[in-house]
Amino acid sequence: MKGMRDHKWDPYRLLESPVLYNLKSAVFSMGRESVLNYLRRSVELPAGGRVLDAGCGTGRHARVFDASFWGIDGNAKYIDYARRHRRGVFSVMDATNLAFPRGSFDLVFCVGLLHHLSDPQARAAVREMRRVTRDSGRVLVIEGVFPSVTNFVGYLLFKCDRGRHTRTLAALKDLLAQEGFHLHAENIARTFPYCRAVFSNR
Ligand SMILES: C[S@@+](CC[C@H](N)C(=O)[O-])C[C@H]1O[C@@H](n2cnc3c(N)ncnc32)[C@H](O)[C@@H]1O
Repeated sequence: MKGMRDHKWDPYRLLESPVLYNLKSAVFSMGRESVLNYLRRSVELPAGGRVLDAGCGTGRHARVFDASFWGIDGNAKYIDYARRHRRGVFSVMDATNLAFPRGSFDLVFCVGLLHHLSDPQARAAVREMRRVTRDSGRVLVIEGVFPSVTNFVGYLLFKCDRGRHTRTLAALKDLLAQEGFHLHAENIARTFPYCRAVFSNR
């Protein structure tokens, strides 16, 4: 019947709420501090360097950077939350079509964005991330890796994720190699219950 699906209750809609999203992240993304620590350790920026977080969610990575920080996300509620709680400039924007001029940033990164995007969308997003990065700048793609079933907890968490495009390490490597990215790290230290791979343009 027309409209039946439209009225079906979708539990993932609860995660549209920034507060519930933050709670879910705190409970289930047990290795998320490791991403913050990784960014703190491995990113070097020139004085006054500009940073863009594509698919920033509620903006939790803003606190890593003293530099000018921009965050964009497709979810207006997350952006509203980020504007009220984080330091930086936050905008509702589609990562596959960034409204910034070429070479605007010294560092552009995304964390957990790609499993929300189909292959063509993911390719468009990383292309956009490169476009808005200065020639001397860096692009980092940090993405959860779909684990084997032997990692039961990680496997289950990924199976239940609202992102419909979870990928194995091999699939991520293939996809990102086409856009000139190489695997920088198979996993970020102290990340669990699944690996978070890091890809880089240089
Ligand atoms: C798993 S969350 C990660 C959020 C944040 N990077 C973090 O680590 O807390 C994925 C985010 O990507 C955003 N997103 C999905 N598709 C997007 C798109 N096409 N453009 C911008 N943001 C998008 C979602 O709204 C969500 O906030």
